[in-house]
Amino acid sequence: MPVTAIVGAQWGDEGKGKVVDTLASRADMVVRYNGGNNAGHTIQNEHGTFRLHLLPSGIFHAATECVIGPGVVVNPAVLLAEVAEVERLGIPTAGRLWLDTRSHLIFPHHILMDELEEAARGGSPHGTTKQGIWPVYADKAARVGIRLGDLLEESHLREQLEFIAARKSALFEGVYRHEPLEAETLLRACQGWARRLGPYITDTHPLVQEALRADRTMLLEGQLGVMRDLDWGLYPFVTSSTTLPGGACAGAGIPPHRITRVLGVAKAYTTAVGAGPMPTELRGETGDRIRELGQEFGATTQRPRRCGWFDGVAARFAAEVAGFTHLAVMKLDIFDTFERIRIAVAYRLGEKTLHTVPHTASMARVEPVYEELPGWRVPTHDARRLLDLPVEARAFVRRIEEVVGVPIAMIGVGPGRSDVIFSQEGFP
Ligand code: GDP
Ligand code: IMO
Ligand code: MG
Repeated sequence: MPVTAIVGAQWGDEGKGKVVDTLASRADMVVRYNGGNNAGHTIQNEHGTFRLHLLPSGIFHAATECVIGPGVVVNPAVLLAEVAEVERLGIPTAGRLWLDTRSHLIFPHHILMDELEEAARGGSPHGTTKQGIWPVYADKAARVGIRLGDLLEESHLREQLEFIAARKSALFEGVYRHEPLEAETLLRACQGWARRLGPYITDTHPLVQEALRADRTMLLEGQLGVMRDLDWGLYPFVTSSTTLPGGACAGAGIPPHRITRVLGVAKAYTTAVGAGPMPTELRGETGDRIRELGQEFGATTQRPRRCGWFDGVAARFAAEVAGFTHLAVMKLDIFDTFERIRIAVAYRLGEKTLHTVPHTASMARVEPVYEELPGWRVPTHDARRLLDLPVEARAFVRRIEEVVGVPIAMIGVGPGRSDVIFSQEGFP
C-alpha cells in the first residue's frame, strides 16, 4: 500500500510525529504537506527526544527521502536549526532532504503581525502559536508572497521585496504604529537564507512523480487536525492551511487517486491549545490528571493543553470529511490508572441531539452525551498485540472504533517508536 496520508483527527497534537517516525522505517519518502513551524511533532527514538517543527518526521531514517512540499510555509532559521540538530547526530540531510521551490517563506514581519494582531484582540486572542502562520498564508493568497525559489533569482527578488517593503510599511506605520520595513534588510536576510538553504531547494515535482511511478512507499505528513482545518474546523479558531488529505494532494503534489490509505491519528482523549469550543473539556481534577499523566504541554509554545474525554462526534465528523481508511489511537496508556473512562457519543443543543459538528457558535453551547466504560487499572506499556491488552482496554478501543466508524490499525501504549500495537491484518 504505497501512499499513506497521516492526518490529525482532533485538535492537533494527536501523536502524528510518533506515528510517522514509527512507520517511516518502511517508507522510501515522507512529504510534509501543510502548515509551518506552528507544528510540534514529538519523536522519541534511539537518538533521543525531539520536537520537530518543520522537518518531516521520517528524517531519522537515513534511507528515507524527506520532502517539504509546496503547501508548507518555511521559517528558514527554524529549519536550519533542525537540520543542524539532526546533522549533529551523524544523520545526513544532504541529498535526501528537499524543499520545494514553491513553498512560501515566513519573514520576521509575518511573526510580528501575528503577535500584534493577537495583542489587538485584548482579552480574547485566538491563541495562535505566533509563528506568522496566517500572515504568510494571507500573503500567499494575496499573491505577494516570496517563495523559496525566489531566493535563487536575486534581481527578481529585489523588485518583489521593494514592493512588499513599501506596502507593508504603510500598514506597519499607519495601523500598528510600528517602524517601517526596509527592502535592503529583507534582501540581506534572503541572501543569507539562499546561501544556506540553496542546496536543499529544488523542484520536488519530478522526485515525487518518480516515487509514484516506481510505486514507492510514501507517507504524507499532515500538520494539526481536522477541527482546526481552515474550511472544516471551528472557524475562526483554525489555522490557515488545509489539514485534510485533500491538502496533501495540493500541498505535496499527489493526485487524489494515488492516496491509497488515509490514517487518521487521534488520542484516547482530546486536547487543544488555543481558544475556541471544545465540548468535552474537563476543567478540574480529571482534566489536570490527564494533563499531568499525558504531559500535555504544547510542543511549540509550552502552553498547558486543554484536556478532556474522547469526543466521538468530532472524531466521526473528521473521519467523514477526511475519509479515514484507518484510525490510530494514541496514548491509551495514559488511562492505565483510571477507574472509569468516558466517550462522548452525541451532543445536546437545547432540545436537540446532534451527531455532527455544528456551526462554531452552537458548538460552544453543546453539552456532550457520554457513555462510561470501566478502566483496566494495569499497565499497558508492554502490550504489543491486541490480545496483550486487558479486556476493558480492548472494549474501550472497540467502542471508539464503532463510534468513529473506522477500523483501528494502530494503538499507542507509550511515547517510544516501538510502543505500539498494530491491530489490523495487513497494516502497516
Ligand atoms: P503531534 O503534533 O501530532 O505530532 O503530537 P505532539 O508530539 O505534539 O504530542 C503528542 C505527545 O504524545 C508527544 O509528547 C508524544 O511523545 C506523546 N505520545 C505519542 N504517542 C504516545 C503514546 O501512545 N503514549 C504516550 N504515553 N505518549 C505518546
Ligand atoms: P501540530 O502539527 C496544536 C493551534 C493554535 C491556535 C490555532 C491557530 O503539532 O498538531 P496558528 O499558529 O496555526 O495560526 O494557530 O491552531 N495550533 C496547534 N495546536 N498542534 C499544532 O500543531 C498546532 N498548530 C496550531 O494553538 O489555536
Ligand atoms: Mg504537536
